Amino acid sequence: MEHPLLQHALRRSAFAAGATLAVTAALVAPVAASADARDVTHHLISPGAPDIPVANVKAHLAQLQSIANANGGNRAHGRSGYKASIDYVKGKLDAAGFTTTLQSFSYGGSTGWNLIADWPGGDASHVVMVGAHLDSVSAGPGINDDGSGSAGILETALAVSRAGLKPAKHLRFGWWGAEEYGMVGSQKYLNSLSATDRSKIDGYLNFDMIGSPNPGYFVYDDDAKLDSLFRTYFSGLGVATEPETEGDGRSDHAPFKNAGIPVGGLFSGADYIKTSAQASKWGGTAGVAFDRCYHSSCDTSANIDDTALDRMTDAIAYAVWTLSGESAPPPGGTVFENTADVAIPDAGAAVESPITVTGRTGNAPAALKVGVVVKHSWRGDLVIDLVAPNGTSYRLKNSGNDSAPDVDTTYTVNASAVAANGTWKLRVQDVGPQDTGYIDSWKLTF
Ligand code: TRP
Ligand code: ZN
Ligand code: CA
Repeated sequence: MEHPLLQHALRRSAFAAGATLAVTAALVAPVAASADARDVTHHLISPGAPDIPVANVKAHLAQLQSIANANGGNRAHGRSGYKASIDYVKGKLDAAGFTTTLQSFSYGGSTGWNLIADWPGGDASHVVMVGAHLDSVSAGPGINDDGSGSAGILETALAVSRAGLKPAKHLRFGWWGAEEYGMVGSQKYLNSLSATDRSKIDGYLNFDMIGSPNPGYFVYDDDAKLDSLFRTYFSGLGVATEPETEGDGRSDHAPFKNAGIPVGGLFSGADYIKTSAQASKWGGTAGVAFDRCYHSSCDTSANIDDTALDRMTDAIAYAVWTLSGESAPPPGGTVFENTADVAIPDAGAAVESPITVTGRTGNAPAALKVGVVVKHSWRGDLVIDLVAPNGTSYRLKNSGNDSAPDVDTTYTVNASAVAANGTWKLRVQDVGPQDTGYIDSWKLTF
């Protein structure tokens, strides 16, 4: 065997040669890419609730307004504009990966529908539910009442999808029919659930009128925890709130509350008059209703205060992210390991060692731990990749002028874009002559 020091000196001069440097440079690019990927990972591991773009919420309101325009000026139960509203919301949710269910019921001689949208995953025995009524009164298009809540929870649901949220609890959204006839749809929904299924709903949040043109900021004063969640959010924004108590029986949270489910919600005001004390804390006009178009034909897309709609929708997202939680990994994680040795040919073709992962649901973690032990007399020769079941490869290590022996380390990979189940491979290639070794073992911790 060569003298180790001499060998290292030779190797160093080999790396100084132009051709070798070119190879090294080519290998450097993927390092930068994977470093970026890890920055994203970091963001995904400690997510904050997103800032929901109010323009997206307003785009939904514009669609609801068009639907009313095309259907006799309203979206009321029993009218064609109601079903068209349901179809619009359902189409968005289906495209975003929600599991949607239309629940039909009959009321006043007409068919009505509730739309339920489940976000796949989460603990089905701990459901966080968010709802709004999608019907208007027959007098008008119902853009603030309750296009605003309907659009706000829709855009929050779409944000859940965009974020690929993996909540610990199960997330469910509901759009109710025939609220304007006395919470008919939401009551039908609760009646349709078994006592066991009702008991799995940890909380229900209701959003009925959240963009009132002369807005107030009312937080349902019911469940203490849900109440304080919203108050915390608004105090962080520096926006004063008042408790909403007169609404106890006036919207779709009432049937949930009567079923023993903790309820919360937000409200920007309806037909009550804004006092001068309220106008001094919130702005707007004292002596005028929070919504002077409440239940009338002028409740159009012009009947919205964008700032209130924006703040209220961001508060919905904050509540959804906070209440549903992130999946907690099992303590210590589940380890899948391959301890079979695989010889690595000197300056030769890449070799692979497989690990088959089963029994997982959904995608791999945003911070997948990849433990690698390779025995080798000069680890600078080694290029190591993790290859996902779908063929995506993640560079773990480049070759370089590193004379130390062996690799024994744990890499963190953002694998949240690929399914967890399937056969993963550790791919190792020796790209420099003389030194050799073998894959000793490797493992994936989910
Ligand atoms: N849709 C509700 C209604 O017609 C609007 C409403 C009025 C409301 N006051 C409320 C909703 C208080 C929640 C809380 O009565
Ligand atoms: Zn309403
Ligand atoms: Ca070698």
